Amino acid sequence: MDPVSLRTERLVLSIPTEADIDAITAACQDPEVPRWTTVPSPYTRQHAADFVELVAGWWADGVETVWAIRKDDALAGMIGLHRITAHPHGGEAEIGFWGVAEFRGQGLMGEAARAVIDYGFDELGLARIAWRAVAGNVASARTARSLGFRYEGLLRQGLTSPRGRDDGWVAGLLASDDRTPVAWPVL
Ligand SMILES: CC(C)(COP(=O)(O)OP(=O)(O)OC[C@H]1O[C@@H](n2cnc3c(N)ncnc32)[C@H](O)[C@@H]1OP(=O)(O)O)[C@@H](O)C(=O)NCCC(=O)NCCS
Repeated sequence: MDPVSLRTERLVLSIPTEADIDAITAACQDPEVPRWTTVPSPYTRQHAADFVELVAGWWADGVETVWAIRKDDALAGMIGLHRITAHPHGGEAEIGFWGVAEFRGQGLMGEAARAVIDYGFDELGLARIAWRAVAGNVASARTARSLGFRYEGLLRQGLTSPRGRDDGWVAGLLASDDRTPVAWPVL
């Protein structure tokens, strides 16, 4: 698969490149990123260089589609569809994201995620997009809820990361959902 760029009102989403390595390295020094994601800590420039190389291979293989989120040419975050699987009745993938600290709280992740979700349903033919987060990640859960994801439950010790195992919240969005936010019992 060739990498695809997406545009929203305020953002451009495009494949991360070698030119982003320093900005990715800087963004991943924020403890909130390794705290809630599988990003390693301490995070080195080599981690970012390896990540950029991996992303190119994932696009080529069509297994993960990862975009750098850009606002006025600055790196504002990273977002992707992971574990993409096809199926005759519609495929499935999992959405994942982190934002650069100084760009948070402006609705940018929601804006980026809407474009990624549309791409997944309309271009990749997905029937379902899953969201999972370490239990207690209220910022991520509110982002998912505002996108229309429905809370589906708790995965006891179901998430692994360099930290070990964590309880996980899981939610899902179907192509047929109307995306109107609904209440989540944990929020
Ligand atoms: C989760 C994260 C990406 C949100 O990014 P953002 O750009 O601030 O999100 P938005 O501005 O688009 O806000 C989306 C929703 O989340 C809510 N939100 C954002 N930050 C929040 C916080 N710290 N506490 C509570 N709610 C928060 C917003 O109010 C909004 O909800 P609403 O529409 O119901 O008002 C960002 O906090 C982050 O990068 N966290 C660290 C990494 C991480 O947790 N990644 C997700 C792993 S599953």
